[in-house]
Amino acid sequence: MTDAAFERRTRACQQRLREGTGDLAVLFPSRNLFYATGFDEEPQERHLFLFVPREGDPVFLVPALYGSQVRAESWVEDVRTWSDGDDPVAAVERVVGDLAVPADAHVLVDDTMWALFTQDLESELPDATFGLASAVFDDLRVRKDEAELDALRRAGELADEVSVAVRNMGEEAVGWTESELAAEIESRLLAGGDSLAFDVIAGSGPNGAMPHHAHGDRAIERGDPVVLDFGAYVDGYPGDQTRTVVFAGDPPEEFVEVHGIVREALEAGVAAVEPGVEAQAVDRAAREVIEDAGYGEQFVHRTGHGVGLDVHEPPYIVDGNETALEPGMVFSVEPGIYLEGEYGVRIEDLLVVTEDGCERLNDSPRGWHAGDAA
Ligand code: CO
Repeated sequence: MTDAAFERRTRACQQRLREGTGDLAVLFPSRNLFYATGFDEEPQERHLFLFVPREGDPVFLVPALYGSQVRAESWVEDVRTWSDGDDPVAAVERVVGDLAVPADAHVLVDDTMWALFTQDLESELPDATFGLASAVFDDLRVRKDEAELDALRRAGELADEVSVAVRNMGEEAVGWTESELAAEIESRLLAGGDSLAFDVIAGSGPNGAMPHHAHGDRAIERGDPVVLDFGAYVDGYPGDQTRTVVFAGDPPEEFVEVHGIVREALEAGVAAVEPGVEAQAVDRAAREVIEDAGYGEQFVHRTGHGVGLDVHEPPYIVDGNETALEPGMVFSVEPGIYLEGEYGVRIEDLLVVTEDGCERLNDSPRGWHAGDAA
């Protein structure tokens, strides 16, 4: 990603502000800040803000120890610093004064900004109203450009490769604990990616019936269905893929049928995707298959979530979301059936909306039988 590309994003944010969303956006270390500037940092206790006014150039206000780094890593030219021992709120006051922010401004603050900082902004701008930066950034970030799609495709390929390697363990995985299997998956992911997208999920037997159980000491038994959900970041964008497999032996009665239903629900959800269709229609298409089979109560979550700089972001594929799908949107379709105390089945692919349908970002085998390419 070039400086020019990051600058274009910030200018697009300013355009939205001018269209009436607000007078000023204030970001702090977050995905939005990275999206707008290329500067990547974790939230921390020192005041570090990017002020994006409607007009003119943005101003970075950063702790002095970050000065050279921010100048090197972002396109923003106006970088001001404050030193430990200075009053950071006085530094904020100077920036707000220089930017001539109207007293009754509508200020959009980063959704994840700590209250510690929003309260300082509120004390500096007592007559301002406050909103969330997502009012601008969600809409900018939801359609991925070619560079973003390229990274997402590679993250998808990495998840696919690891999925195949793990599936091919077959019989060998029996007796491993979930945590041992998760560690194997993690090391394979990190061999090709930058960091984990989230804690690897390896839910065996009854643990698979808890959708967000990560992994534990339970040893995988013959015949256990195992939910495997994982992904890694590649060039800033994550993979997220789920398969449910049986490494060896005969699965529980009904499992083959339940797996088939979830797989059919996945296909129905994917088939519903095209530009103009509402996000909730994809949820409905997948859910209908599961409800018709009598397992509606056991599908305890939405059908999917958008994926971008964040692993969970808009558009959410959920009942009530009337957002019309557009080319460039990327999200998961991940129906599941969870039988408490027995096992769970979830199958998840990421896809990108195209002009006439969608392109799947995952293509590893979706069957339950480990080693089986179906
Ligand atoms: Co997911």
